[in-house]
Order: sequence, then structure tokens, then C-alpha cells
Amino acid sequence: PSTSQPRITSPDTLNSLSVAAKNLIDLQPVAFPTETVYGLGALALNSSAASCIFAVKGRPPDNPLIVHVSSLDMLYGLLPRSFKMPESYKLLIRRFWPGALTLLFPSDPNTIPSIITANQPTVAIRMPSHPVARALIALANAPVAAPSANSSGKPSPTTAEHVRRDLDGKVSVILDGGACGVGLESTVVDGLQPDGKIRVLRPGGITVEDITKVLQEGIQDPKLVPQVLVHRRDYRDEHLEAAPSTPGMKYRHYSPTAPVILLMTASPPPENVTPSSAQSFLVRLKDEIQPSSSIKVGLLVLTDSTLGTLTLPTIDGVEWCRYELGPVDDPAVTARRLFDGLLSLDQQHVDVILIEEVNETNEGLAIMNRVRKAASEVRWITF
Ligand code: TXA
Ligand code: MG
Repeated sequence: PSTSQPRITSPDTLNSLSVAAKNLIDLQPVAFPTETVYGLGALALNSSAASCIFAVKGRPPDNPLIVHVSSLDMLYGLLPRSFKMPESYKLLIRRFWPGALTLLFPSDPNTIPSIITANQPTVAIRMPSHPVARALIALANAPVAAPSANSSGKPSPTTAEHVRRDLDGKVSVILDGGACGVGLESTVVDGLQPDGKIRVLRPGGITVEDITKVLQEGIQDPKLVPQVLVHRRDYRDEHLEAAPSTPGMKYRHYSPTAPVILLMTASPPPENVTPSSAQSFLVRLKDEIQPSSSIKVGLLVLTDSTLGTLTLPTIDGVEWCRYELGPVDDPAVTARRLFDGLLSLDQQHVDVILIEEVNETNEGLAIMNRVRKAASEVRWITF
């Protein structure tokens, strides 16, 4: 991938892009595709434009936004003059930009409005690789702040139709760039700490394995290769844990309307938990959820796993709605399908969604991070 500007030639696309760019310049939010998920964009350097994003999403003001740039010049224009790019950032930018990697930089309060950073001393910046996203930012000729284009707490949208269903009437322009290739949000990395370590604040589209590899290959002296630390929870969770909201009010994220139950089918259960057999769990489910009327059960399963290949029991009053998340050994496919799976089962008005655990390697780490947040319950299953 190159960091030069993409070329867009279709007159239709150009026309839509200029309408969208004009909207941005008029301080109106615009929904647009990126390679990770759809974003809800507004001019990053204008506080009132950025505040529209919080209003449209119903987003808590203490959750900072990612600033999107279309060129390295635009990046440098945002950074304090005194900032010296760490060696690790140079390697990560060379390899992963444009792409699904967000890096923290020191925030210059004279440049970046405090509404963007939620008063943090840092600002999160990324250069998306989606040609429509980069062309839009380049046309607006200004950095664009963009969270995922969903109502706060809902799964992130990976198609223009997902955005329309969620934000209908709240946003006047939605650019349709087809389905997102990555399907999960960018990986958020902090490499600014004095110890030089790379802290993954939110696992995402770029895997921890890939980040580690690039650092190992790019730095000659093995003693100088920074350690990569993974926070299993992102910044937002830590923040909430530090200042808990109303007791009893459970924080939900990536949650469809239906409750989500995470089925642990491979990991061993904790000591005090006896796993249920898959068949008996499925048979008892209706009685647990709604014994008196019929129910629809959504199942998000891997295509070739034991659960995915199970013959579903025929039960009076139970309709199974199965959605396949791809093969066990291809987590990139699962990443691409996860949010669509949650949103389409919701669309079918299921009463509950069961989702199968995936192996936490490569994209699996980010997948399980989102699944755990979406789930209100975890059950251990044997076969
Ligand atoms: O892939 C993506 O990153 C998508 C697309 C649209 O680019 N955007 C996205 O934005 O996921 P959002 O707002 O849904 O998530 C931003 C994440 C949050 O976890 C937020 O807490 C974190 O980035 N973040 C932003 N600024 C930060 C900062 N200064 N320090 C720590 N975390 C920050
Ligand atoms: Mg989001």
C-alpha cells in the first residue's frame, strides 16, 4: 500500500464525494466507509462540528474520538513541533498506514479541540486505506474525526445499510462504499510511554502478532525491540471502572437489542463451573427464556466447528436462525462477518443470540474483545 492519494475516476463517485465534502465543510456530519467499519465524520479541528457527532450517536463526552488523515503532511500538521517520532512508530506507520492502526500522539491544545481528546493529553490518529475515506478527507482538505457510525452501545456498522437503519433521519449524507473488508475497528496503540513499550489499548484489525513481527524485523538489536503489551479491556472500560456509574447499571457495548450469550466451547471452565452438554443446553433454553410462547434463537457459529456442525434439535416453539461466521482457521472472515451477524439476527427479531467462542490468536483477540462486551452472559458447553 502506498501513502499517496488514491485516484477516483467515476463521475458518480466524484459527485457524491464533493457533496459529502461540502457537507463536512458546512460543519454537518457525514457517514462514510472505511476499511474497518463505517465512520461518522466531522471536521476534527472545529469543536461545533465535532459536537454534532456526540449528539447523533448519543456518545458520552468523556470518550475521545479518532482523527483521520489522508496524508503524512496532514499528520505532521497536527503534531506539536517538538514531537520526535519514536522509532517504533516509524516502523508501524511504514508497514500499516494507510490501514487499521490508530496511534496515540501528544495533543497540541492549540490545534486539537478538547472535545476530540476528552481532555486527554494525547490524540488518537489514523490514516484509513479505504479509497472513499481518503478521497473524502483529501477533498475536505482537513482532518476528519470519526467514531463508528452507530448509536452508542450498538454494534458498529459494516455496510451503508447498517448505518441507515441505525441513524436514519439523524445524518443527511451516507456514502456507500460497499461492505467493509476488515469488519472490526482499528487497533489502538500507545507507544508514547517513557518505557518505549507498545501498549495495545484496543485490539482490532491489525493483529498483535503482526505488530510484534514488524518491530522484531525492523529493529536490528533484539534488546531494543519494545515489548508489546495487550490490555484486555480498552481505555473506555478502565475509565468507567475507575468511576463507576449508577450501581446496577450494566455497561453494554456492541450490543444488539437481543441479549447475547457467549458459549465457551473450547476453553476449560473455571473451577466452580460445571459445563452443560450442548444438546441439553439447547433443549432447556426455551424454558429459561420464555416458557409460555414461541421463541426465535439466533446462532452465530463457526462453519466447521463442533457446535457449527451440530444437528439442531427440533423443539416445539423454537425457531433457529443460524448465521455462519466462517471457518475455524480463518479469523479474518469471522472478523468481517461478526457485526453483520449480530445486526442481521437483530433484524430477524430473534429473542436471544448465542455466539460461539473463537480462538484468541490473530484477529481472534479483537473478535473476543467485542464478543465479551456484547454478551450479557457466559456459559460453558461440552459435547
Ligand atoms: O476503525 C476505527 O477505528 C473506526 C473507524 C471509523 O475509523 N473508528 C472507531 O472510533 O472505532 P470509536 O470512536 O468508535 O473508537 C475510538 C476508540 C475508543 O476506544 C476510544 O476510547 C479510543 O479510540 N481513543 C480515542 N482517543 C484516545 C486517546 N486519546 N487515548 C486513549 N484512547 C483513545
Ligand atoms: Mg465505536
